[in-house]
Amino acid sequence: MSDSKFDLVVIGGGPGGYVAAIRAAQLGMSVACVESRAKLGGTCLNVGCIPSKALLQSSEIYAEAAHGLGVHGVKTGKVALDLKAMMARKDNVVDDLTKGIAFLFKKNKIEHVEGYGTLLDANTVEVKPAKGKKRTLKAARILIATGSEVTPLPGVEIDEKKIVSSTGALELNSVPKKMIVIGGGYIGLEMGSVWQRLGTEVTVVEFLDRLVPGMDAELAKTLLRTLTKQGIKFKLGTKVTGAKATKTGVALTFEPSKGGKAEKIAADVVLVSIGRRPFTEKLGLDKAGVTLDGQGRITVDEVFQTNVAGVYAIGDVINGPMLAHKASEDGVVCVERMAGHVANVDYDKVPGVVYTWPEVSTVGKSEEQLKEAGVAYNVGKFPFSAVSRARVNANTDGFIKILAHKETDRVLGVHIIGPDAGTLIHEAVLCMEFGGSSEDIAATVHAHPTLAEGVKEAAVAVTGKPIHM
Ligand code: FAD
Ligand code: NAI
Repeated sequence: MSDSKFDLVVIGGGPGGYVAAIRAAQLGMSVACVESRAKLGGTCLNVGCIPSKALLQSSEIYAEAAHGLGVHGVKTGKVALDLKAMMARKDNVVDDLTKGIAFLFKKNKIEHVEGYGTLLDANTVEVKPAKGKKRTLKAARILIATGSEVTPLPGVEIDEKKIVSSTGALELNSVPKKMIVIGGGYIGLEMGSVWQRLGTEVTVVEFLDRLVPGMDAELAKTLLRTLTKQGIKFKLGTKVTGAKATKTGVALTFEPSKGGKAEKIAADVVLVSIGRRPFTEKLGLDKAGVTLDGQGRITVDEVFQTNVAGVYAIGDVINGPMLAHKASEDGVVCVERMAGHVANVDYDKVPGVVYTWPEVSTVGKSEEQLKEAGVAYNVGKFPFSAVSRARVNANTDGFIKILAHKETDRVLGVHIIGPDAGTLIHEAVLCMEFGGSSEDIAATVHAHPTLAEGVKEAAVAVTGKPIHM
């Protein structure tokens, strides 16, 4: 086909790319979005956020029905699992949502160009579809949103059956008896929780001596205690040195991270979740002259422009947290700046949520980061056990912690572990976005009885005395 011309060609249809494409179209640009997958939505929708949250939700309901209803005076017979139905529901949710993006593309007159995109120069993208002829797209501007891929572990070959990445862990067709999870971060703890709830004996092997590195250490400690209570086993300060698929499962070797005696362990399934890395394979960056940093990320300036004028990059393929909402925010800000609007995204105010039970959420600086930076701060903490709604709901594990500047009282970081922590954090994000103080939260009326009252009490605790403690 002959050349097509666009104001903007986006490469990658994930939460970074598809959101940027929609916003650009809203701003009046003619837009094409090149995506190699048949379905839009990227990692997040197809093999990430959405399917994992669907399984977390279903497995949570299963575990609640099996073990958690007695306390409410609800008696059940033996609760049985229909894994096929659970998986089918997850697939339907993904399907519906990807169709939703296709609908939004049509509505906004965005052309979805199916195929693999490669830069030929700073204004030209060649698209190779799985079937059919190559196509060349001309663009005034190009936006790279190609996301990330699983970081491989040397000596451990992923086959997506016995040795799986998160993608395989979302599709197991039976409940494994034993699972080893390599890495105690977001994926390991979420997918480990799913299978533990469904009956698998899960052991998490983590290189460091703590979970969820980067998050406030007190959260990580409480999370470790709570997940251990639920039945997940942990080997901290331990590294896996090899894993081989056998006839019956997987044989795995590990040793202390700092060196020491090697040990062997067998499992039915091994999940490799030691992080993700930017994906720029066969993208033609060299042809366009786009440079990477030492970690393989595309380097961009404050308007997301690469070192090549007219070529931009957002989401997992650049620096910052590898989160869907961060990718989307990058995308919106990037195209709004192209259109001359005032917009920016502050990575310090991007919340992170681990959707375990209880959930863990965080925004801003941890205590460790404040100490390291030499910033004086006050701490306000409040346990969910003293929040009446948490008692009503029989979910009292966890706490809310607010860190505020010692002199100015400006909120610098908020860390929550507990029921609905992923929703509660947004009050803190908003407060920080407005440069608010703990006093602002403390003086805000919170409805009773809600879990959010705990946030108010934690804010009161920063400089004063909470009422219910
Ligand atoms: P991606 O979503 O990776 O999209 C990039 C797209 O580009 C892909 O569809 C890919 O096929 C396409 N592509 C790549 N190269 C080319 C090319 N050359 N030509 C054409 N197409 C190309 N984040 C959260 O915020 N919340 C969560 O709950 C969450 N859960 C997750 C669970 C799992 C199991 C995983 C793996 C990730 C999860 N994440 C979550 C992270 C989130 O998925 C990513 O941060 C997000 O998808 C990044 O968006 P992106 O648009 O930058 O890239
Ligand atoms: P991660 O970075 O969250 O965690 C990886 C863990 O593996 C770390 O604790 C690290 O110390 C450990 N590790 C590294 N090498 C190891 C080794 N050789 N042996 C044992 N442990 C080792 O990465 P993960 O869980 O793979 O997830 C990738 C990214 O995807 C996350 O960082 C996050 O950005 C995103 N994500 C977000 C989710 C959410 O928002 N709820 C859910 C899932 C993924």
